[in-house]
Amino acid sequence: MSADAVNPRPAQPGLSPVPRDLQAGKLLVLGGGYTGVRFARAVAALGVPVSLTRRQPAPPEPLTEPGLSWQTFDGTQGQLPPESALAGTTHVLVTIPPDADGRDPVLTWLAAPLARLPLRWVGYLSTTGVYGDTGGAWVDERAPTPPGLGRSQARLSCEDAWRASGLPVQVFRLPAIYGPKRSPFRALGEGKGRLIHKTGQVFCRIHVDDIVGGLLHCLSLEAKDRPPLLNLSDAAPCPSSETLGYAAHLLGCPLPAVQRFSDIAAMMGPMARSFWLENRRVSNHKLCQELGYRLRYPSYREGLLSILLEERQSEERPHQRALTDTPSATVTRP
Ligand SMILES: NC(=O)c1ccc[n+]([C@@H]2O[C@H](COP(=O)([O-])OP(=O)(O)OC[C@H]3O[C@@H](n4cnc5c(N)ncnc54)[C@H](OP(=O)(O)O)[C@@H]3O)[C@@H](O)[C@H]2O)c1
Repeated sequence: MSADAVNPRPAQPGLSPVPRDLQAGKLLVLGGGYTGVRFARAVAALGVPVSLTRRQPAPPEPLTEPGLSWQTFDGTQGQLPPESALAGTTHVLVTIPPDADGRDPVLTWLAAPLARLPLRWVGYLSTTGVYGDTGGAWVDERAPTPPGLGRSQARLSCEDAWRASGLPVQVFRLPAIYGPKRSPFRALGEGKGRLIHKTGQVFCRIHVDDIVGGLLHCLSLEAKDRPPLLNLSDAAPCPSSETLGYAAHLLGCPLPAVQRFSDIAAMMGPMARSFWLENRRVSNHKLCQELGYRLRYPSYREGLLSILLEERQSEERPHQRALTDTPSATVTRP
C-alpha cells in the first residue's frame, strides 16, 4: 500500500480528498448527536449527501450547509424515517447507544430496511467500557471483554448483534469523547470544576475530530484492509487532575481544592461514580501504527488548546455557532 493511500494528501487546505469508497455515495448518520453531527458535517463538506436522524422532529439548530438533511428516528417510540428517505444510502454511521432494555434500537426497528440498501460500510460506535477494569493495564483489540458495568454488558451484546447482522460492519470502541462544548472549560469558568484524586486512576479520551478523522481514514482504505474492530483513542491516558490542571492553566484561572475520591464517592451520582470504578489504558497501536492514522490531537494538550481557540472564534462569530453547538452529555466525564 502506498504512503498516499494511508495518509492521503488534502486536495485543498483543511479538506481531505473524498475517500474513493464515499464517492457517488450517500451517508446516513443514525443518531445526529455530538459525534454524529461532526462526522456528518465533515462528510457533507466533501460533497457527499448526508441524512441524520434525531428523536425530535425539529433539530436544535438548523444545519445550513448544503447536502445535509434531518430525518426523525425514535427507537423508543418506534417512529421510523420513511424508506424513501433511506433510498440510495451506501454508508451508515450508528451512534445510538443501547436502549433501556439493553437492545440496539437500530437493529430492533431498521434491520430489514438497512438490509435492502446497497450498503458498502456500516460504522458502529461502541465504548472501551467493554474491556472492563484492568487495574490500569493496557488493552488492545485482542483483550478479553469482561464488562463490569451493566451498560457495558448491554453494549457488548449490541456489538455482537451488529456483527451477526450480515451487514459490512466496522465496530469502533471509544473512550471519553471531548471537543468543543465538551471540555472542562465551562465548568472551570463557572467555578464548578472538581479536582478529584484517586491513586493510580487514569482516564483515556479521544477528541471528536480524531473520531471523524479515524472514520474517514478507514473509509480511505480498501474494504478488505478495514479491521472489523478498532479502538479510537489518543496517546495520553492520564489522571483527570492533569487535564483539569492544563485547562485551568490555559484559562488562567485557579484550580479548585483537591478532593479525595473516597471522601466524595457517596455524594456522586451513580453515572459519575461509575466512571471512577474502572481503570484502564486503551492502546491505539492498530489505528496509528498498523493503519497509519496520524492523530490530530495526540494528547489533551493539543486538543484543549484547539478547543479554546475554536470556542473563542465561535463567540466572536456567533452566526457560525451552529458548527460547534451540538448537544453535550448530561454527565461530564472526568
Ligand atoms: N460521550 C462519551 O464520552 C462516550 C464515550 C464512549 C462511547 N460513547 C458512545 O459513542 C456514541 C456517540 O457518542 P455521542 O456522545 O456523540 O452521543 P450523543 O451526543 O448522546 O448522540 C447520541 C444520538 O443517539 C440518538 N439516540 C439515543 N437514543 C436513541 C433511541 N432510543 N432512538 C433513536 N435515537 C436515539 C440521540 O438522539 P437525540 O439527538 O434525539 O438525542 C443522539 O442523536 C454513543 O453510542 C455513546 O454511547 C460515548
